[in-house]
Amino acid sequence: MARHLITSAIPYINGIKHLGNLVGSQLPADLYARYQRARGNEVMFLCATDEHGTPAELAAAKAGKPVAEYCREMHAIQSEIAQGFRLSFDHFGRSSSPQNHRLTQHFAGRLADQNLIREVSEKQVYSHADKRFLPDRYIEGTCPNCGYDKARGDQCENCTKQLDPTDLIDPRSAISGSTDLEVRETKHLYLRQSDMRGKLQEWIDSKTDWPILTTSIAKKWLNDGDGLQDRGITRDLDWGIPVKKGTEDWPGMEGKVFYVWFDAPIEYIACAGEWAEANGKTDADWQRWWRTDKGADDVRYTQFMGKDNVPFHTLSFPATILGSDEPWKLVDYIKSFNYLNYDGGQFSTSQGRGVFMDQALEILPADYWRWWLLSHAPESSDAEFTWENFQSSVNKDLADVLGNFASRVTKFCRSKFGEVVPEGGTPGDRESALIASLDAGLAEYQTHMDGIDIRKSANALRGLWVMGNEYLQEAAPWATFKDDPETAAMQIRTALNLIRFYAAISGPFIPDASAQLLTAMQSDDAQWPENAATALKALPAGHAFTVPDVTFRKITDEEREGWQEKFAGTR
Ligand code: 2FM
Ligand code: ZN
Repeated sequence: MARHLITSAIPYINGIKHLGNLVGSQLPADLYARYQRARGNEVMFLCATDEHGTPAELAAAKAGKPVAEYCREMHAIQSEIAQGFRLSFDHFGRSSSPQNHRLTQHFAGRLADQNLIREVSEKQVYSHADKRFLPDRYIEGTCPNCGYDKARGDQCENCTKQLDPTDLIDPRSAISGSTDLEVRETKHLYLRQSDMRGKLQEWIDSKTDWPILTTSIAKKWLNDGDGLQDRGITRDLDWGIPVKKGTEDWPGMEGKVFYVWFDAPIEYIACAGEWAEANGKTDADWQRWWRTDKGADDVRYTQFMGKDNVPFHTLSFPATILGSDEPWKLVDYIKSFNYLNYDGGQFSTSQGRGVFMDQALEILPADYWRWWLLSHAPESSDAEFTWENFQSSVNKDLADVLGNFASRVTKFCRSKFGEVVPEGGTPGDRESALIASLDAGLAEYQTHMDGIDIRKSANALRGLWVMGNEYLQEAAPWATFKDDPETAAMQIRTALNLIRFYAAISGPFIPDASAQLLTAMQSDDAQWPENAATALKALPAGHAFTVPDVTFRKITDEEREGWQEKFAGTR
């Protein structure tokens, strides 16, 4: 039994995510976790909310809530929606957990011990009215480049120029509007990533099997010079993990917190500690996933993320791990994704453009979305969601091919033989040919799933569903029945077993439909099939079943048009 540690990039806490976010990390990670479990492997699948940084503080302020309370509420909401999509995390943690506080402070202490941290004095804008520093988005003013008067401290939205808060003309606080500001010296910690260039280069060069998207981004950052500059890992903010050196205070760093991108990936590890606490497990139980000196040396660790997250996972986080000089598990494989666009433009959280996770579940069950998103995952290039494409995939693949197969077979059997697997007849050449093509199709499906080639996996699975339809079309038991009811019984027995076979292999993509079909077949045998010949004998003659309710319904043109209109505007 292999052991798989799987993490999805942890979504920011500030609001409900859209379908583009979902398909870029959580959903493909879930597909892989479900597949590995189905193959009988041991899986630890972790995700969490990313709760620190200015976006969390600003969103809480906008909601008029203390940030801790806002995060608690939003975590509960994101967690519920994740369950709605059947994301099968072993734990859905929080980067603000006590475990992550301790571990982040621990790593900072280790890095300091290894002489990988330096203190830097820099100039930051301080607001007297707000009694605080104003980093990044906390400051607004006139852009020195284009004159736009609402430019933010980190960037001008009008001309896209990257800015430093001290560049702004007539700066004011984004919190109070106050212009009573001054530039003050403040001290920050920098991680000497540049010292680790050699180690990181060697590590990335050893990953010859990684997807091109991942390695091309990693190498670009590593070699462009910009990417591996020493990076500030602290901020003058209230909300976050207080800067400490292990359990000790850090002189001169009082009142400061770690930068969100320093503590977020450490949450992957801390989350396993949260899992242990939530499930009455010991430290040894989670450490066997994360410490190579405590049993994690045979673990395969796979991360899932959007392409914008790749530099942090190929350089910054490995720099933290390698720099600690402790035996933490490093990632083995990084699956990254391009972007999913929405109907001729981009999904936009700020403009509310596109379909958000909660809205999606209000209009259709999870499996419909899972199937479309995964079978159109933005792997080799950006992909686009259109309502026409969604309607056509659902109606063809799910309703016509899979759903209709299950419905025709079970209804025909009920009317001619009753709700039991019929007896009699002997399989012949057509059945042997079916078995041969199912075996080939299954092998192809497994190869793509093992390689996390998601679109190819979906195609292979659809191909297996099609084989059943073609078999049924050619065997035509409704015609056979007239002269040769015994053979028709054998054909229907084969087809009923195909339904169970589909239930067993489709679970990673469409877990609810799989469970429904398995229940209809009155089987608890969801075992991954060894081969088609054995799988098609799982339900013997005389085994009772029920006709399932509609597995997938079709999307009408009116619905499609209505949704298109509804989701074009602002949320
Ligand atoms: O881009 C994002 O949504 C970030 N919140 C991802 C963080 S992943 C990690 F490092 F934990
Ligand atoms: Zn500008």
